[in-house]
Amino acid sequence: MDFREVIETTGACRHYRPDPVPDEVLARVLDAARWAPTGGNRQGVRFLVVRDPARKTALRDLYVPLWEQYVQRAGARPGAPLPKLIAAADHMARHLDEVPVLLVVCAQLGDLLATDRHLDRLSVVGGGSIYPAVQNVLLAARAEGLGTALTTLLCAVEPQVKQLLAIPADVLTAALVPLGFPVQPFPRRLARRPLTDICFGDAWGEPAFR
Ligand SMILES: Cc1cc2nc3c(=O)[nH]c(=O)nc-3n(C[C@H](O)[C@H](O)[C@H](O)COP(=O)(O)O)c2cc1C
Repeated sequence: MDFREVIETTGACRHYRPDPVPDEVLARVLDAARWAPTGGNRQGVRFLVVRDPARKTALRDLYVPLWEQYVQRAGARPGAPLPKLIAAADHMARHLDEVPVLLVVCAQLGDLLATDRHLDRLSVVGGGSIYPAVQNVLLAARAEGLGTALTTLLCAVEPQVKQLLAIPADVLTAALVPLGFPVQPFPRRLARRPLTDICFGDAWGEPAFR
């Protein structure tokens, strides 16, 4: 597939077909993670491939209450029809156990260095050694015709997830990525801001290109 087309059509998939994902395809997708950059090339990202129905159901049961809280906070009124994006994400939440593969993205704490941890704001740099690998997986999956969705709600109940999946104490959870063949065709164009909104030249607010 054309590189730009892969990037521009990797959206969040919320409806998955039950068809199993062949192991050789999944291995190719996960192999893409290895090539991502990490701070100091520590390569501390780990992927837990959950296919076991009982564990998938347990993950869904942990996810759904978090999702419901999120929807409530987002202002959806009980009983009222949900906006399209929320409705699709709601379907995914309630059917998470039916997605063929749930990838639990983990990272070894000792391999992460948050150079911004002393600043008086949210620390984000630690994630810089995790999410590039996740994005590689999303893109590689798209190139194989597989849908994915990067989700992070489940990180709020990390202790329960770690217990369920026997994740060691010195390992954190960073995302849950459902993966499977999509019900709907891939999007042709994602809703994204124009380049001029996100890219400046020489000084903040100045155009990068004239
Ligand atoms: C850091 C991060 C966390 C996210 N967490 C969730 C989540 O918990 N649940 C969910 O359904 N989608 C989650 N998403 C998916 C976003 O809603 C999605 O990327 C966004 O709406 C754009 O969708 P599109 O790529 O289909 O246009 C997350 C995305 C990111 C980047």
